[in-house]
Amino acid sequence: MKSSLSFIDSELEQLKKTHLLRQLRYGTIRGAKISIHGKNLLNLCSNDYLGIPTTKLKIHQMQSSSRLVSGNDEMYKKLEGKLAHHKSQESSLIYPTGYMANLGAISSIAKKGDLILSDELNHASIIESCRLSGATISIYKHNNMEDLKQKLKQKSKNKFVITEGIFSMDGDFSKLKEIAEITQKTDSILILDDAHGDFVVGNDGKGTGNYFGVSKKIDLYISSLSKGLGSFGGYIASYKNVVDLNINQSKSFIYTSALPSFLIEYSMKRFESNREHQRKKLQKNVKLFFERFTEIGYVINSQTHIIPIIIGKEKTAIEFGQYLFKNGVYAQPIRYPTVPKNQARLRISVTAWLSPKDMENALKVFEKAFQKFLK
Ligand SMILES: Cc1ncc(COP(=O)(O)O)c(C=O)c1O
Repeated sequence: MKSSLSFIDSELEQLKKTHLLRQLRYGTIRGAKISIHGKNLLNLCSNDYLGIPTTKLKIHQMQSSSRLVSGNDEMYKKLEGKLAHHKSQESSLIYPTGYMANLGAISSIAKKGDLILSDELNHASIIESCRLSGATISIYKHNNMEDLKQKLKQKSKNKFVITEGIFSMDGDFSKLKEIAEITQKTDSILILDDAHGDFVVGNDGKGTGNYFGVSKKIDLYISSLSKGLGSFGGYIASYKNVVDLNINQSKSFIYTSALPSFLIEYSMKRFESNREHQRKKLQKNVKLFFERFTEIGYVINSQTHIIPIIIGKEKTAIEFGQYLFKNGVYAQPIRYPTVPKNQARLRISVTAWLSPKDMENALKVFEKAFQKFLK
């Protein structure tokens, strides 16, 4: 059919030709398993890292309006109090998603005339948020402290440094201790996106700041309730004045519906569950994956529950993913623009859902895949 939108067909065609076309797959998720088109697979790409068993809810409110109108259930106050304490901060504010928390918080506190230093591997939501703020953006080389120090010499009103705690597609830690020292010395403001470290690392799962002993040196935490906690939503934790400013100026907080309170209740139940038991299980599973992957011959540069298997070419990464799929393992190939071109990879996320038998089965498949694709 010819229409004025037919230029889109050639864009899609181009994506397909370069092995970058993305398509939705519908599945049914049950713990460690996912069923797609009737095929049962082991799910190795879930962000529900802790695998906290599902809790029953008394659903007493479905939806109302934005939080500044009538959507502000009492439960928010209780959970925000707990999240502020969890991050050793004065105050906290829940957003509908982590993506929206980044958009709202970064663009509320950084303005034209300010300078933002952002790690080159920071997540798309951070990149978009920095652009939205109108501040000057300077990208420093991944985890490169000399480059960061050099770039911080530029003159500007306020200076912000933004990094992820655990990088979402590489699974490595940021050099947070060094970054915190640098921001202190240069009077800069440190923002930490802890989406993948929160609830998983540090004492009691307090996250990457706690893991490196620098919790108090983080000026603004941005995180997700949809990953380690396995619920849904995003939040920030910071000084009270930062939270107050966000309530007043953060568009992705003000001009959108509040998360329904049953989701807040769900997060609260999971927050209060035996998270430590799940964390220990996760750590054991991660250790097993590292040991066995290394024995097989995979070169792993991550130190966490996110284990990337770098393949390189997009086409090969797709074929690798298809091979896993055929053999009962679900791990999606990650391609450009999520990662640079020719750095396509399988991103394995280890969860506490996995039983020893699940892992044994998966590792047999990975052993054969290594022989077929990487030998
Ligand atoms: C580093 C990072 N920040 C923020 C987000 C967004 O979080 P959410 O899924 O809650 O929107 C993600 C999601 O993958 C992420 O990886």
